[in-house]
Amino acid sequence: KVRVAVLISGTGSNMVSLVAAGQAADAPYEVVAVVSNIAGAAGLAKAQAAGVEALTVEHRPFGKDREAHERAIDALLAERGVQVVALAGYMRLLTPWLVGRWAGRMVNIHPSLLPLYPGLNTHARALEAGDAEAGCTVHLVTEGVDEGPVLGQARVPVQAGDTPEILAERVKAAEHRLYPQALADFVRRLKP
Ligand code: GAR
Repeated sequence: KVRVAVLISGTGSNMVSLVAAGQAADAPYEVVAVVSNIAGAAGLAKAQAAGVEALTVEHRPFGKDREAHERAIDALLAERGVQVVALAGYMRLLTPWLVGRWAGRMVNIHPSLLPLYPGLNTHARALEAGDAEAGCTVHLVTEGVDEGPVLGQARVPVQAGDTPEILAERVKAAEHRLYPQALADFVRRLKP
């Protein structure tokens, strides 16, 4: 199986869905490590409960040196023979160094139908615009934020009375179905 690391900053619900799918006997990937930049992130305990090594590399001690923080993460990934990195609610912008190092081998999930609404507050922006549909996108990570080639999308309806929170929940349910499928399709196509 292709060895995947998942980077998180918080809840880790997408990470949990990736871990679970990767544990199926016929899955083409397995999650071998979860890394958080936030100590005590809720996702870390969930990773451990699922039998996956959970690591913390806080960004704070590195101050403004983003690349040094990323080098510390990257060293842990290298030690574990990680082949693909999946970002799942990892809320740090990446430097060109890390993006370049993992070019073609790093994916992200974003809670909008890209190219609509890159960046933050996607659900509020979709509601503000009066969109009839919302959704999520799995894409390859490139230097431009939320700009890489799309690997898969899932759509959900916007319903009357939706708040950003309610819409976020509906989109998250779609994320949990999309991400494992898109990651599996992606690693099957990877050249060894
Ligand atoms: C997810 O909705 C994900 O799409 C979004 O953060 C949430 C993380 O939830 N990611 C971004 O906004 C990236 N800029 P989770 O921790 O429960 O997976």
